[in-house]
Amino acid sequence: DRSIKIAPSILSADFADFGAEIRAVEAQGADWVHVDVMDGHFVPNITFGPPAVAAFRKHVGTVMDVHLMIAPVDPYIDAFAKAGADIITAHVEAGPHIHRTLQAIRAAGCKAGVALNPGTPAESVAEVLDIADLVCVMTVNPGFGGQKFIDMTGKVRRLREMIGDRPVHIEIDGGVDPTTAPLLAKAGADVLVAGSAVFRGGSVSNSAPYGDNIRAI
Ligand code: DX5
Ligand code: ZN
Repeated sequence: DRSIKIAPSILSADFADFGAEIRAVEAQGADWVHVDVMDGHFVPNITFGPPAVAAFRKHVGTVMDVHLMIAPVDPYIDAFAKAGADIITAHVEAGPHIHRTLQAIRAAGCKAGVALNPGTPAESVAEVLDIADLVCVMTVNPGFGGQKFIDMTGKVRRLREMIGDRPVHIEIDGGVDPTTAPLLAKAGADVLVAGSAVFRGGSVSNSAPYGDNIRAI
């Protein structure tokens, strides 16, 4: 179903060659590039910050979808906006003021996303769907690539109901592969993040599988 956007996550790419990896997945069909920022506090892993994201920007020709797995979020919004993020997604669990955070992301000139961990109910974002451009439904507990998919199709259907005809993307993040993708598209998701399913079997010197991996999803 080609109305579904595929957003490869560079968490599964070669950390020593992000420029080449980003150019390769975009050349082979990626609709967006998903950038996972982790702070070792909100999630038990550390990836990269605004300077790295600014460097990625030079290679991203499509949409740079920045997923902030950090707490607090607000002090860093301007830095990620200046780094060139098109979308900045904050976790509803990252602090008490998600409404203010989404307002601040939009005020910084970016599209605003809100992410939900598997244990967080869809209703927790009911009051911010008027100021969100995207809801990111985690289908793994955040922090790592290559984890097992946690079925959230019920939550996706509920969110699609709650969103109604408002222009809000539902993005699925974690464990997306050719088996899980169709379930999610049917439930109402329109953006699928995939890290290991896209980058598996490839490398910077051999990015051949990336296109096939993307089309298989
Ligand atoms: C996990 C990240 C995901 C992850 C997806 O915390 O937010 O974007 O990179 O990787 P896969 O597709 O391998 O589960
Ligand atoms: Zn992510």
